[in-house]
This record gives sequence, structure tokens and C-alpha cells, in this order.
Amino acid sequence: MKNRLAQLIQKDGKALFLPIDHGYFQGPTHKLEKPRETIKPLLPYADAIMLTRGVLRNCVDPANTKPVILRVSGGTSVVGEDLANEGLTTSITEIVRLNASAVSMSVFVGSKYEHQSLINLTKLVNECEDYGVPVMAVTAVGKELEKREARYLALCCRIAAELGARVVKTYYCPEKFHKVVEGCPVPVVIAGGPKVDSELEVFEFVYDGMQKGAIGVNLGRNVWQSEYPVAMIRAIRAIIHENYAPKEAQGLFEQVKAGKA
Ligand code: R5P
Repeated sequence: MKNRLAQLIQKDGKALFLPIDHGYFQGPTHKLEKPRETIKPLLPYADAIMLTRGVLRNCVDPANTKPVILRVSGGTSVVGEDLANEGLTTSITEIVRLNASAVSMSVFVGSKYEHQSLINLTKLVNECEDYGVPVMAVTAVGKELEKREARYLALCCRIAAELGARVVKTYYCPEKFHKVVEGCPVPVVIAGGPKVDSELEVFEFVYDGMQKGAIGVNLGRNVWQSEYPVAMIRAIRAIIHENYAPKEAQGLFEQVKAGKA
């Protein structure tokens, strides 16, 4: 368990995870139509990639040594009835066989399927703990993005940690994000959500989230849907691992974009 966690969370205690699992409920997401091509230039700058077994099997070179966080919940789609109605998709045998450094699954607190998703989390934790595989719980909001406020996120993160998640992925919120992190006894990483308008906005929320106790990010669309994905991931990496302020990160972004760094 400690060895796997050390593969994900770096010696400085920080982490940059690159999620490309969106197709498991969204299908061929914009700029992720060909995952192999999307990740190729980005992999050197990520501490781990998060993806499903299907994309791992078909779109990632088996010689890849970048740690893998395997998405192991699903069974819903954006055109289906309810995104919260997820089940576990991948057996522990497959998780171990694929040499995953961790697994991730979504919990939908407050939804019609709250109980089901929380019991799924406990089942997964029970199986994974036996094999030393950390579970990263994703506090999902489905299509209800307005749920992303501190009181709700703190509730979800705490419950996920209490049920055995070793890491929790949640959303950043501008108000009282420190309360989300302080109430959660395991490391918290921030998801990005839908692409926002400017790069600086991303750098600002990543920086603020880190100042308030997050250990890093699990941030996808705001990286690979950018016109300059390598510049984005390098700037975000500098915030996480080199403590760059948002404007310094913007400076690095501009330099990489111009081919000067
Ligand atoms: C969605 O549920 C996926 O699990 C993503 O991994 C997660 O939302 C993070 O990606 P993004 O930064 O694009 O929101």
C-alpha cells in the first residue's frame, strides 16, 4: 500500500494526476477522441494517469511505466436516466493483473443512488485493501455542477474517507475550500470540471486550492482541451511541484506556448 501511494504522491507530498477516463460515460469527448494521441505529449509531465481498462488496453503502450489509476466504476451514460446509478466494473483480479497503482470510483452523496454508490465504495475498499491497492474516491455531482460548494463537498469527502478511501478527489470551490480539506483525514486532490475561459483562471484555482491544503490535482479537460495542452500541464506542474504563483505559471505558459521554454 505504501509503495503504491508513493508512486502517486511524490516525495514533496504533492501530485499531478492526468485523468482521461471521461469516455466511460461521455463517449468520445472533445479532444479525447484518440486517447493515445492526446496523452503522448503530456505523459512526461504527469505523476499518474487515470483511465479505464479499455483505454489502458487499447491506447497505452504496455511499456508505459507511468503509474495508472484505474477507473473501476461505471455503467451509466450522459444520455441515460441517471449518472449516479453506477456499479463496480472491474474485478480485483483484473486490477492486480493490470498492475494498477490505485483505483478510482465515484460516490454520489445526496443522490437517489447515494447508498448504492457508498456501499460500492466499501466493497471496493474491502477487496483492494487485501492487495494493498489504494482507492481514490471521486465525489461526483453528475450534471448538477451547482452542488460544488464547501458544505456539500466537505460532507462527501469526509464520508469517503471514513468509508476507507485513501485519497479523495473533489471539486475546488472559491468559498471555504479549506473546510473541505480540513474535514478530510486523507489527501485531497482537485478535479477541474468543464473547461473554463482563461488559463489564468485555472492557475488561480489550482494555486488557491493548494494553499488551502489540497495535495494536487486530477485535472483533465482544462489541460487537454486547451489549444496548448503541454503549456497548460507544465504551468500547472510548476504550481504543484515548484510553488509557482498564478502569474508566474501564466508566464511559463506563455513561454512554452511561444516555444521558448
Ligand atoms: C469525470 O468524472 C472524470 O472522472 C474525471 O476524471 C474528472 O472529472 C476530472 O477531470 P476534469 O478535470 O476534466 O473534470
